[in-house]
Amino acid sequence: MALILGSSMGYALADQSYMTDNGVAVFYPSGYDAAQHEPSPIFVNELKSVGDVSTEWNLRPEFSTSDGKSIVRIPVGEGVDFYGNGEVAGPLRRNGKEVRFWNTDAPKYEADEGRRLYQSHPWVMGVRPDGTAFGVIADNTWKSSVTMDEDIVFESEGPAFRVVVIEKESPDEVLKALTDLTGHIEMPPLWALGYQQCRWSYFPDTRVKEIADSLRINKIPSDVIWMDIDYMDKFKIFTFDKEKFPDPKGLNDYLHDRNFKAVYMIDPGVKVEEGYRVDDQGTAADYWVKDASGKPYVGEVWPGPCHFPDFTRPEVREWWGTLYKDYMATGIDGVWNDMNEPAIFNVETSTMPEDNRHLGGGGLAPGSHLRYHNVYGYNMVKASRDGILDANPYKRPFVLTRSNFLGGHRYAATWTGDNASDPALMKMSIPMTLNLGLSGQPFNGPDIGGFFDDCTPELLAQWTSMGVYFPFVRNHSAAGTRSQEPWTFGAETLDVCRTAINRRYRLLPYIYTRFREAYEDGMPVMRPLFFADVKDPSLRREQEAFLLGGDLMVVPRWAGNTARPSGNWNKIVLEDTPDDGFQANLYQRPGSIIPVAELSQNTTEYNTDKLTLFVNLDPDGKATGRIYEDAGESFEFRDGEYADYIATASTHGNEVTVKLTQNGGKWKKAPKSLRVGFVTTNGIEYTPWSIGDTVVFKKM
Ligand code: GLC
Repeated sequence: MALILGSSMGYALADQSYMTDNGVAVFYPSGYDAAQHEPSPIFVNELKSVGDVSTEWNLRPEFSTSDGKSIVRIPVGEGVDFYGNGEVAGPLRRNGKEVRFWNTDAPKYEADEGRRLYQSHPWVMGVRPDGTAFGVIADNTWKSSVTMDEDIVFESEGPAFRVVVIEKESPDEVLKALTDLTGHIEMPPLWALGYQQCRWSYFPDTRVKEIADSLRINKIPSDVIWMDIDYMDKFKIFTFDKEKFPDPKGLNDYLHDRNFKAVYMIDPGVKVEEGYRVDDQGTAADYWVKDASGKPYVGEVWPGPCHFPDFTRPEVREWWGTLYKDYMATGIDGVWNDMNEPAIFNVETSTMPEDNRHLGGGGLAPGSHLRYHNVYGYNMVKASRDGILDANPYKRPFVLTRSNFLGGHRYAATWTGDNASDPALMKMSIPMTLNLGLSGQPFNGPDIGGFFDDCTPELLAQWTSMGVYFPFVRNHSAAGTRSQEPWTFGAETLDVCRTAINRRYRLLPYIYTRFREAYEDGMPVMRPLFFADVKDPSLRREQEAFLLGGDLMVVPRWAGNTARPSGNWNKIVLEDTPDDGFQANLYQRPGSIIPVAELSQNTTEYNTDKLTLFVNLDPDGKATGRIYEDAGESFEFRDGEYADYIATASTHGNEVTVKLTQNGGKWKKAPKSLRVGFVTTNGIEYTPWSIGDTVVFKKM
């Protein structure tokens, strides 16, 4: 072991290290105790050596201890821009920032001045001035923190932990390597990409129907209505209030008949009550998290005193999964796991005591809450997902979670917790969503319109006009605030929101293909602008304009003078409606083809039979794009039941030929009706519609 000279704290280089993949090295501190960290929740497969770390390897973690804390410092040199850290409040670029990994119910992101939020991703990505990039994972669930400057420093309250370092030529490659280690998302159901209407809470069931009807009457394309806690009987999970929701199946049928899906909330806290099935079962089997004395821990949440399933135990996860069977059979389509930091009321820490006990199992050692707190939500959603899949084996599960941990994107999408109707928080939702994507979680978004406080017509219009280009699009608001559905703000706001949501639905062929990309290689759906040109330093801090996939730049209307990548990113307009002053400006990458569908009112009606291909040629007169489509809800795509097309454009003289070629999948679909929207600096020129796979266009 080499001691680093000149260091007062006595840092030491790794005791052991190896390469686990091309450009991926693992470093172990001396005294490393695997039982305190493994099996790791982060990695899909246990890390294995494929060879030695070369002497040329640049980034070498240095390990130390101080005041009982385990410390790792990674000197990275000057000029690095930092990103990642998972769910963070504050700027996109993380230089000089500290993040605390201790999942916290953080209303308005105010806990520890925004240093601590609902999820933990002990992960940093660094991008050097020349565009090369690296990433660092601290494989550690214990309470910890990270700071980023010329050194990256992780500090943990638990025992010494190993560190994985990824070294690559570009941020793209770093993200691909990260998600090779942590896994890719499953294909989400297509409906989960639609517009979703939520509130705490729509009740009774007649109100839910009214909301669904209003969405259709007002012609707001939409796919999902959400049921928050008030559908339950006294907030007891897996129950329905007999008066307010007497017939859940009937309600879900009503929604399904109108092409809506129904998502319902399930929290982890189980009301302590004799005779309540869930509490009785968990108590009889002794499934609860224990306090330091070994008694079932009781903490208060919505139902009052609650027990908490010990999700570190495989048998508890299995039992939890079984609870979903009858529940899903009422026609529930998706599940919302909330309060799973876990949040506890009436205690200063807003969570369980750190010395609570978890039993582990399946290779996982028993341990304190200090070790397992950050993966409480992670293990919960893992169990939920498995249970939902058992209940409906032929449907892609949809779980939304508030709390999670690095790697937990394999089990659930996420929203960024309790924000507020505040323009500053609307703006902050961009870097937050981007950094989550840069941490391997591509499927996320904020409460559109803001959760706390009253939204204004202007704010809802602004937020919806940009929010429709986020991966997850849900309007949600807190009890006691003014109604936040688009039609409650008057005709003008309704029109603005409808136009924005129409555009989301028209872009679905493009957006769904981006989810397919995330499923294949882990690339985020929403990306920071610097991904357009990683060598251009002027893009590195841009956090108002962003990219949806690689080809579409979104500039919110409220944004100031945003940075722009070089080249002819020409403006596209998805439909010829008069400018309302709110819609985000969209720009298309030179050399790309963006597929746009006809307007549909929901994803059941949505189809790609008639497509407009927006073509923005590169200086060589060429462009390419991709369209992926499948049945949207089942797993048959895994057996080749899909169609994957490549669109190409090439120029000969004055003639541009645009071709759609099937490039994968067994689906044989009828030829599409196509037209090309030829995107230039002077506007868009359309070809007439024609049926077939080739469109020829004569340039003026
Ligand atoms: C939490 C959630 C919020 C939900 C509320 C009531 O605050 O973050 O989205 O509406 O609980 O269930």
